[in-house]
Amino acid sequence: MKTIIEPFRIKSVEPLRRTTREEREALLEQAGYNLFLIEARDILIDLLTDSGTSAMSTEQWAGMMRGDESYAGSESFFRFKQAVQELTGFRHVIPTHQGRAAERILFKVMCRPGSVVPNNTHFDTTRANVEFNGAEAVDLPCPEAADTQARLPFKGDMDVNALERLIASRGAENIPLVMLTVTNNSGGGQPVSLANIEAVKTVASRHGIPLYLDACRFAENAFFIQQRERGYGDWSPKQIAQKMFSLADGCTFSAKKDAFANIGGFLCTNDDRLAEQEKDLLILTEGFPTYGGLAGRDLEAIAVGLGEVLHPDYLEYRIASTGYLGRHISDEGVPIVQPPGGHAIYIDAGRMLPHIPPRQFPGQALAVELYRHAGIRSVEIGSVMFGGNARHELLRLAIPRRVYTQSHIDYVVEAILEVNARKEEIQGLEIESEPPFLRHFSARFRPVAAGSRVA
Ligand code: F0G
Repeated sequence: MKTIIEPFRIKSVEPLRRTTREEREALLEQAGYNLFLIEARDILIDLLTDSGTSAMSTEQWAGMMRGDESYAGSESFFRFKQAVQELTGFRHVIPTHQGRAAERILFKVMCRPGSVVPNNTHFDTTRANVEFNGAEAVDLPCPEAADTQARLPFKGDMDVNALERLIASRGAENIPLVMLTVTNNSGGGQPVSLANIEAVKTVASRHGIPLYLDACRFAENAFFIQQRERGYGDWSPKQIAQKMFSLADGCTFSAKKDAFANIGGFLCTNDDRLAEQEKDLLILTEGFPTYGGLAGRDLEAIAVGLGEVLHPDYLEYRIASTGYLGRHISDEGVPIVQPPGGHAIYIDAGRMLPHIPPRQFPGQALAVELYRHAGIRSVEIGSVMFGGNARHELLRLAIPRRVYTQSHIDYVVEAILEVNARKEEIQGLEIESEPPFLRHFSARFRPVAAGSRVA
């Protein structure tokens, strides 16, 4: 049969609360037109992020009950460590409370002022943690990624020639590590091919530079490789994931994505000396190395989730359901980053709303309008999030794992098409106040006065 179904049934449900358009208008004003500042109870469909928002399985909940909360050497830690090592093969596994804690420790240990860290595209917290340590975060996406409309299989790849040039111009001694983000979140959720991981590894090793994966969505990336890369059609997603990790010297990981956990992460390395320094820092702010800021039950949920996420039925459904949203809006003329990504659909708001210039934040304006119209929360990935480093003005609709059904997604499709039908009326925004870094979380906006609109 052709129909791809959700490969699970529902055992526990959470009610959704509707609001009126008038209520949402008032809430937007109170929140300074920043959807991070709206309470979750006032959201109908929450596509803000796929991070920490997964529905856990019965086996994960059962694992939670097995959680061993011993301070040191808990059984849960060893089950967690075994699951991570079976997948990644890394010698040292350091639990952290989420991905950015792993990033903070990694960059603190590896970077110094003047260091340069190349990545296919840094995610916001990754960039912020590199920069916080006085280092420079350099994005080297492949040239094909510049065209959001090009339907190519691996637009998450790194530009290997640009990496060679960067190493030649800045000196290998100033590049403590090269990172690859799989899938490339800020670059449209696009996958990275195994050929690219191999090519990056070859260049980095030639200069003695270690390669780290930012592995948040490793399983979705592995599935895309199975579907799209020549030679891997017969491999299981797990075998492909193992090969991806085998090419790296370490990784950071947010278990809030491809481990279906509501919290958690880890940092891995094969370097004994670095691992010691990392564990010292871990104890300072996260906790003892056998729990790293997590409860034993969280470690259990991650261990189980890492197995479940590689199930072929799950990955087939996951990628098909994200593609379903993308196809149904793009077929009606809404410009999205093509082809659809793994965890999210990205509307090219710059292209959809050409009457709103980047400095009036088309992605944010569209996010606000989608909430106002239908109670849907999404997130801007553009000039609000990345300032002058933004390459595109995108609106991300991230799909929580195993949470929404097809009719929820049909509602989202209908809402987007209705907004698209009167897109000329959408107004730009300007910033009223902003914090010194990661401004998208707490900046306040106001609509641009009608008179100052730029045509
Ligand atoms: N790296 C990537 C590629 C991410 O997408 C994220 C988080 C992180 C690192 C940091 O992990 O949140 O556990 O500290 N991305 C979320 C998102 C927040 O919405 O895309 P974290």
